[in-house]
Formats: sequence, C-alpha cells, structure tokens
Amino acid sequence: MRYKISKFDIFLVVALCPLAVLGFDTPTMGWSSWNTYRVNINDSLICHQADALVETGLKNAGYNHINIDDGYFGGRDEATGMLKFHPVRFPNGLKPVMDHIHSLGLKAGIYSDAGANTCGSFWDNDTIARNVGLLGHEINDCQLFFIELGFDFIKVDYCGADGNQNKQLYYYEPAERYAAIARAIAETGRDDVRMNVCRWAFPGTWVRDVATSWRTTTDINPSWESVRNIIAENLYLSAYAGNGHYNDMDMLEVGRGMKPEEDRTHFAMWCMMSSPLLIGCDLTTLSPETLELISNPELIALNQDALGLQSYVAKTDGTTYVLVKDVERRDSTTRAVALYNPTDFVRRISVGLDEIQLAGNASVRDLINRRNVGNISDALSVDVPPHGTGIYLLKGECRRMRKLYEAECAFLSRYQELYNPGYVGSAYYAPRVGASGGMVVRNVGLTPSNDIIWNNVRVDDDGTYTVSFKVFGDRPAEIMVYANDGVGIKLPIKGNPDGEIVNAQLQLTKGNNVIRIAARDKAPDIDYMTIIP
Ligand code: GLA
Repeated sequence: MRYKISKFDIFLVVALCPLAVLGFDTPTMGWSSWNTYRVNINDSLICHQADALVETGLKNAGYNHINIDDGYFGGRDEATGMLKFHPVRFPNGLKPVMDHIHSLGLKAGIYSDAGANTCGSFWDNDTIARNVGLLGHEINDCQLFFIELGFDFIKVDYCGADGNQNKQLYYYEPAERYAAIARAIAETGRDDVRMNVCRWAFPGTWVRDVATSWRTTTDINPSWESVRNIIAENLYLSAYAGNGHYNDMDMLEVGRGMKPEEDRTHFAMWCMMSSPLLIGCDLTTLSPETLELISNPELIALNQDALGLQSYVAKTDGTTYVLVKDVERRDSTTRAVALYNPTDFVRRISVGLDEIQLAGNASVRDLINRRNVGNISDALSVDVPPHGTGIYLLKGECRRMRKLYEAECAFLSRYQELYNPGYVGSAYYAPRVGASGGMVVRNVGLTPSNDIIWNNVRVDDDGTYTVSFKVFGDRPAEIMVYANDGVGIKLPIKGNPDGEIVNAQLQLTKGNNVIRIAARDKAPDIDYMTIIP
C-alpha cells in the first residue's frame, strides 16, 4: 500500500519542525562555563555539568549546548604552531570531553579570540593563554575545532585584537577579522557551526553576515545594575535580530545571588528579547526556584518562537517600558507583551489594546506564573513590583493596522556602536526631549547607504497612503522617501527645532511594505512615521 501524506502529517511537520520549515535557527540554548568558573575549569568539571544538564531535565527543556569558555588553552607548539591544551586542567586534551558531551546528545561549544591572546591571559593572569588566538591560525584552528574535535559552536572574543586589552597594543578591524574567521569555518566544509561575535557592543550590521549571535554589551555580572543596563542597551536593537541572527545579551546570571524578582526579570526579558540562553550557574547545585524559572516552557517557547523576533518598545514613559512581539505568525491576533519596571518603586504600567494593534476581547495569559488572568477589552494594567516584569500572551479578536512607527525601532543600515558616528557617518538613536518615545534617530544622510528603513510596514489594502514624518531640524534640509522599489519622493524640511511634520503620498501594497528615508546632506532628527489610509 502506498503511504499518502495526510493533513495530520502536514500538521505534525508544521507544528513540530517550525525551524526546518522556516529554515533558520532559534537562539542558542545551553550552559557556559565562564560566569561561575572563569578560567578555573577542567575536564571532569565540564563533564559533570554536561551530566547535570541532562539529569536536571534542562536538556529536555531545550538547553542543548555545553560551551567551554576561556581557560582550556595550553599555548602553542613552537615548531608546528598547533594549539595545545592546558596540561593540568585538560591533561588528555579536549577530545574525551567532546566525546562525552556528544554521547549525551548535546552539542559542544568552544572559545577563542579574533586576535593573538585571550581575555583570560590579560585579565585573569592566565599567562599560558598567550598567542593562542585565531590570528594567523584561522585555517588550522578551525580544522582542529570543527573537524578533528567536532565542536558545533564558537564564541570569538576580541581582547587580542583590541589594543586596550593586549600587551602588544594590537588593534584590528573587527569586520575584517570576523569575516576571515567565518571564511575559515566555511573552508572546513561545515555549514552548521554557530559563531558568536564577542565585541562587547553592537559592532555593525555586517555582523549578520558572519555570526548567528553577537554580544551587545560588556560582561554581565550577577547584579541588578548589570541586568538593567544590558536590557537598556538592547531596547532599540530589535531591527537587527531575526532570521537566525540574534543580539546576545550575555550568559545568564540567574541563580547567582540576585533577588527572585530580578532573576525573573532577567530570564523573562532575555526570552522576550530573543537573546541566546546560556545558563551560567553551577548545574549540580541548582535551587528548585532557579530550576523552575529556567525550565519555564512558556518563556522558553517565547525565546524559541519560530518567527525569531526580538520584541520592540511599543510604549514608554521614559522609566517603564511596554515591549511587544509577534509570535507564531506575523500580524496575527496573538502577541506577547512585556511590562518592564526597572525603577525602584511599584509602578502601574498600562497599555491599551489599540497601542499594540489588537482589538475586541483579548484573553491574557501570564507566562511567568503560567496562569490565565482573564479577558480584557480595552487595556492591560498591572502593578509591577520594583525591578519586576510581567510577560503576557494576548489573544485578541482582531489585528489592527499599525499607524505609528518610531524611528528608534527602525533598521539603520550603517548602525554600529564601535566608532564615533559623526566620524564614520552612521545613523544612531538618541534621547531627545519632546520626542515621541523620548528618542529620535540622528545623523541619517551624507552617504546613500546611511539610511533608515522600516522593513515591516503592513497595510490592509493596496492604495495611496498619507505617510507623515515628524522631524526636528535646525536648518532647511531635504529628505528622500522611498516605498518598496518605487522612485524617491523629495520632502523639503523647513528646519524647526520644536519639530515639524512632513507628508508624502505613497503607493503601498496590501501586506508588507518597506519604507526608507535617505538624504544627500545630513537629515534632521527623525522622530516617527505615521500611516493614514
Ligand atoms: C571576555 C568575554 C567574557 C569571557 C571572558 C573570557 O571578557 O566578554 O564573556 O568570555 O572574556 O576571558
């Protein structure tokens, strides 16, 4: 009898293999050695953590990587240049450890540096780790890591290429270094290796071409200040994440001494912002509370959602934030919402359904506490404790067209955080008093590619729309507006420091549209865009 594919089979494939269907990876999950052990790691420690990942059920919850961070290096063979492993910490090398990790059905991650020395050799006095970085050894080291040893993931740090963090004062260009390393990985023939770029700031939009994730901040530590600062630095980076590439908010400090509310905010916001989830605590001594939090299947589902979207700021009063993202299907009636209170006081945070493009009766599920909290028809209002966060899944009856798009949430083609944007000509978001959301995008223009793009502008019907831009300028200027592949429309700006609104009539098509602003000279500060049918 010939087997016929039934509707149920298709349902199973669509439901169980969303990644295969969409063809990209969700954020990396697993455990990493650095936060608890720094360079003081060894083979049995790593193997025990791998065992514990399985025994605690965390593997089943989705955590499938064991990542060895700095500390395993043992210098290089002077004659051959081959990498050596630490004689005391890994006397039998990495192969037995790797084999153990793989035998548990887990993937394994390794660590190196884009320059010559590692960070541990500079900051942790791990002097044996000098001259062990990838610089000049890209091909051989990648062959060793990914073919001989079989690693599946690599974090590439930057101390050896940042003159402030190496004795030789070597400075290199990150885009070039990481591209060379990506080429060396590709030359091994493996196309499934995940590279994490660790440049401690958003390095530039080129990073999506070489890495599956990139650190956006300096190192995390187990304190509320650290978590709060990292969230703040990632609030406006959602446009750069997605399709298998993610902003990395750093390894988790859950279970390492913060207050329960802070641990919850930390984990929940990492999930909402689609950061990799790399547990950083000792898995052999997990408290029940920590295990329960990091195993929460509803938060993990939010992080591993097949759309791979990072939430964006839908509303803020400058101190508290409402973030939102689509889950499961774009533009549907189901949306995840975070009410985030970084202040030291209880704050009532409210968001109208209309502010997140939902309408009708909406059911509300609290994903942190895993319970239904009822239905709403106008607004979600919650008293959020200090340093606390509520994460809710809302299912409304209708999805409405979005009318307001903030500039600070848009894609800036030349956005980067490494160099002075004035020197290198890159647009950036910045606070401005009187601006909607308290933020504008500054420094668009001068170079054609230094533009601002709203990539997901959805309208209900084909037609001509009045698209307006609020800008703040101090002199006359001109901006060019493009919809999809259409010709540019020139909009003259008078130059009003209190703000002015300019309009364009744009032809938009039902479904998704791309709207872009570029400028020959420096554009005024751009605050937001509105779309009226
Ligand atoms: C840097 C990285 C950390 C860690 C250490 C290792 O500081 O940002 O995450 O990898 O190096 O030395």
